[in-house]
Amino acid sequence: MRPVLYLIACAAGPTQYIDAGVRAAQAAGWDTCLVLTPSAARWWEARRDELESLTGHPVRSAYKLPGEADALPAADAMLVAPLSCTSLNKWAAGIADTLAIGLVSEGVHLGVPVVAMPYFNRAQAAQPAVPRSAQTLRDQGVTLLLGPGGYEPHPPRQGDATGFPWAAAVAALPAISETQHGSVIDREPTPRRPASRPLRP
Ligand SMILES: Cc1cc2nc3c(=O)[nH]c(=O)nc-3n(C[C@H](O)[C@H](O)[C@H](O)COP(=O)(O)O)c2cc1C
Repeated sequence: MRPVLYLIACAAGPTQYIDAGVRAAQAAGWDTCLVLTPSAARWWEARRDELESLTGHPVRSAYKLPGEADALPAADAMLVAPLSCTSLNKWAAGIADTLAIGLVSEGVHLGVPVVAMPYFNRAQAAQPAVPRSAQTLRDQGVTLLLGPGGYEPHPPRQGDATGFPWAAAVAALPAISETQHGSVIDREPTPRRPASRPLRP
């Protein structure tokens, strides 16, 4: 049984080519489930079925409803790539208003290895919140591939979304042997069970 990876993609340039990210993770042996932010999901709305065929799993972009079953297998690791500037800052601030951020913000404290490879330009990176957010995530144990040895923000309007280093992002994930598979407990953040006799509108 292959280890399960949640590949989590934000609405940043390389997400137009997220199939390349899925293939890179699959080539490294991961059973790859794709989670998109709501903004990124809009980019793939018309072709979501192609991503589902590629991964063999539903593509998730919204929290489930109370009482709904998990649609994906439990994750052995999570990779946020590309991580947008907005999601970086929201994640560090603890604002988990998307399933994408909810999974990683909770996952890292459940013992799931979490790697993130950002993609944004130098003007976005110049915001004072960015280094603060980066430090906050690293302090929590996130492997954030930002800066030397990772993604170096590009000059504005000079990004190369097709050249996103998927292989380097995947290579930063831990090796999980088959025997370890399933030992890391993670579930999608689960709302409390509804009351046995819920009020009806
Ligand atoms: C066409 C387009 C390309 C964008 N590219 C980037 C990008 O490469 N990096 C980035 O941080 N934000 C980029 N943005 C802005 C983000 O999409 C925006 O901040 C959004 O709120 C991010 O939300 P998300 O992280 O929930 O996906 C782009 C927006 C558009 C419309």
